Amino acid sequence: MKTSLKFLFSLTLSLSLILTISCGKDDRVQTGELVNVGGGMKPVKSSFTDVTDSTYASKSKPAKKGYPPIGPLPKQEDINAAMSELGKYLFFDNRLSGDDAMSCSTCHDPGKGWADGLPLSKAYPGSLYFRNSKTILNTVHARYFYWDGRLTARDIPTLVRDSITETHFLNMDGRLMFLRLQQVPEYVEMFKKAFGGKEASFGRVLKAVAEFLKTVVSKNVPFDTGKLSVSAKKGQKLFVGKAGCIRCHNGTYFSDGKAHNLGVPENPNILEDKNRKGDERYWRHITMRSFVKFMGVNNFENIRKDPGHYVISKNEKDRGAFVTPTLRELTRTAPYMHNGMLKTLDNVIEFYNKGGGESRNKASMLKPLNLGGEEKKNLKAFLESLSGDEVIIMPPVDSKGKVKRFKYQVIKNWYKVPN
Ligand code: HEC
Ligand code: HEC
Repeated sequence: MKTSLKFLFSLTLSLSLILTISCGKDDRVQTGELVNVGGGMKPVKSSFTDVTDSTYASKSKPAKKGYPPIGPLPKQEDINAAMSELGKYLFFDNRLSGDDAMSCSTCHDPGKGWADGLPLSKAYPGSLYFRNSKTILNTVHARYFYWDGRLTARDIPTLVRDSITETHFLNMDGRLMFLRLQQVPEYVEMFKKAFGGKEASFGRVLKAVAEFLKTVVSKNVPFDTGKLSVSAKKGQKLFVGKAGCIRCHNGTYFSDGKAHNLGVPENPNILEDKNRKGDERYWRHITMRSFVKFMGVNNFENIRKDPGHYVISKNEKDRGAFVTPTLRELTRTAPYMHNGMLKTLDNVIEFYNKGGGESRNKASMLKPLNLGGEEKKNLKAFLESLSGDEVIIMPPVDSKGKVKRFKYQVIKNWYKVPN
């Protein structure tokens, strides 16, 4: 028994290793390959043909490979309508939080670009988070989730589980949650419809919300439809050329899926929240420390700066490094960076123009860009062209237009009916 279990374990391990390795290869898009031909635009090849920091810095002869070209996102296929409809209700339902006070939409508000508009996100009542909320628009196209890339985006239900159960997000016990849902007749029906007659379970909640996330994607993006202004077109040339943004923001999602340290200044409100008084001043810091401890970092008591990707790799060079975020829908997701330290797109462009911030670990490819006023304007116009129409998926409403809140039903002959 023992040996066969062991064997099974090692078999699964090696299988998953093989899978990981082969998936990793498939992910990589070769230069010149047409990533997507669905939209009005052809993928754009960059003028940067090198791949490493050092070759760029020394301007040595170009390597063979370039960057995955930018282009329109592939269309989401195969969305299960019944499941995503159920997921929509769950996304907006406070029942998914331990104290029934907040939902996913509290921090991913459709009216705020599916983020929360704050430099640093709130968290479950009684704590405060230490990073900026990320938009979930197009997130199903990401390679890694979260600023530090601690989850792979191949497994969306696991991300949903993390968002529901983590103390800094919805702080919900999965067992209690699905029992709550089972007491709501509307949910009982929707689960049956979405899962072939089956009832609510924790796993099915995760699947339904994951299915809903697939529907939260950009619409009518000027860059994708090929309707760029003259200024944005010039900006695009800078993006793939002189400004070198393509080196990290590449592919249709505008991210290389790698972690880099840009030297973004620390947000002082993490160590000292000036908006609050008395004992509550250090809340965000407590959340950060407990998170870092949970991730297995030694000496977590002395963490004063966000360690970023280091908590996963435990490699010093990843300290303060964050995974390149998408650049889609930026016009709705200010303030920027993992800690909301840059208020506007002008601030961001100025930041890069100076060669980034200051850090021992700063990516060596960040160098002053010497962009003039007109060039900065054009680059901004290009960034703006990556935002489409506002994507508003309304929380379900009743006939009077009020947000619909399903009620628990009192079961009349409770002692007799099976439930
Ligand atoms: C209290 C605020 C809060 C709540 C509630 C919340 N989130 Fe988040 N979410 C965040 C923050 C902050 C981040 C970034 C965290 C980080 O990088 O460390 C994030 C990141 C994400 C991401 C990763 C996006 C990316 O591209 O990396 C997804 C997807 C997501 N949340 C979905 C959800 C879902 C689904 C729910 C509900 C089940 C939810 N969130 C509830 C604040 C919240
Ligand atoms: C060395 C890789 C690299 C290069 C080159 C680079 N970026 Fe970034 N970019 C990142 C990373 C990593 C982040 C997140 C950093 C953080 O939060 O600490 C980021 C963040 C951003 C953000 C904020 C996004 C958000 O949602 O908050 C914008 C906007 C941006 N970059 C635009 C640009 C532009 C424009 C250029 C070219 C001038 C550029 N980037 C060049 C890696 C890079």
